Amino acid sequence: MPGLIERYREYLPVTDKTPALTLHEGNTPLIPAPKLSAHLGVDLYLKYEGLNPTGSFKDRGMVMAVAKAVEEGADTIICASTGNTSAAAAAYAARSGLRCIVLIPDGNIALGKLAQAMAYGAQIVAINGNFDVALRLVRQISSEHPIALVNSVNPYRLQGQKTGAFEIVDELGRAPDVLAIPVGNAGNISAYWMGFREYHHAGKGDGLPKMWGFQAEGAAPFVRNAIVDEPQTIATAIRIGNPASADLARAAVRESGGLFDMAHDDEIMHAYNLVAQEGVFCEPASATPVAGLLKMHAAGKLTPGQTVVAVLTGNGLKDPNAAMRAVEAPRGIEASMERVLESIL
Ligand code: F0G
Repeated sequence: MPGLIERYREYLPVTDKTPALTLHEGNTPLIPAPKLSAHLGVDLYLKYEGLNPTGSFKDRGMVMAVAKAVEEGADTIICASTGNTSAAAAAYAARSGLRCIVLIPDGNIALGKLAQAMAYGAQIVAINGNFDVALRLVRQISSEHPIALVNSVNPYRLQGQKTGAFEIVDELGRAPDVLAIPVGNAGNISAYWMGFREYHHAGKGDGLPKMWGFQAEGAAPFVRNAIVDEPQTIATAIRIGNPASADLARAAVRESGGLFDMAHDDEIMHAYNLVAQEGVFCEPASATPVAGLLKMHAAGKLTPGQTVVAVLTGNGLKDPNAAMRAVEAPRGIEASMERVLESIL
């Protein structure tokens, strides 16, 4: 399978001058979740974005944003990030020979993501402030210096990310009834809605899904209808209080007849474990839509028999500390048959 830009070229802002950049992003599996489906009474599929080249959905938007930055003659890109954007930006910058600068909230980014950005050679600036502060800073820097901003306020990001919706429709043969998705800076829910609509207008999809956006309770500006100054959640990827694409995300939910809701960190980690019991490992933020679906089911708001897709935005390997906290880690024992048998029988 070619990369996204080639596969969905006719739907993307590609010109003859756009470089053929790809790390073979996209084409991620739509995995049925039989146990969760039986519990919820619906056909639940997991769109496993953790299988992208840098382990998150960000690669879809970043391949497009970096290709366009190269086309426009940029030599440096910059972004604020809770982690995944920085990993994707650093990878595609390395691939394209661009300099990459990332601003991250010090101490609030998962280990795997930081390791990636470092390995790909990004210049990392860890600030004593949250994502929202970092985004404000990089927006100003990119407006005053010849540095291309690759956060999702860059329209090419959403263009690339909308291909996730195309793939779901291509695979199911139609749009799902419900798309459940985690919401942080609100770019992805906006991009998916754009993708479903464009495909529908192109005669594909046979309908449109309801967009259900789920946030963490401590970082839920859409649910509370107010900016959250000090967002807190174990799902550090979506620890965001002032989403940049708020208007687009609200429009997506309104136009689709969808909803915003939130889940407590404990509910998120419960869902995280249930997803793992399907054999799929995602990061905490990615379990948020599954936590949300469990809440909806408990409240009688899930229509039985519907087709539901939950977007699992990032790979579980991104955040090994969250995984270790979710279970009891093994302790070393003496390397004897006696002790080993004692501990397993
Ligand atoms: N899930 C994961 C794993 C993420 O990394 C993000 C966002 C989201 C969900 C939310 O997507 O922002 O489009 O609503 N991560 C950004 C980052 C903010 O910097 O990596 P969104």
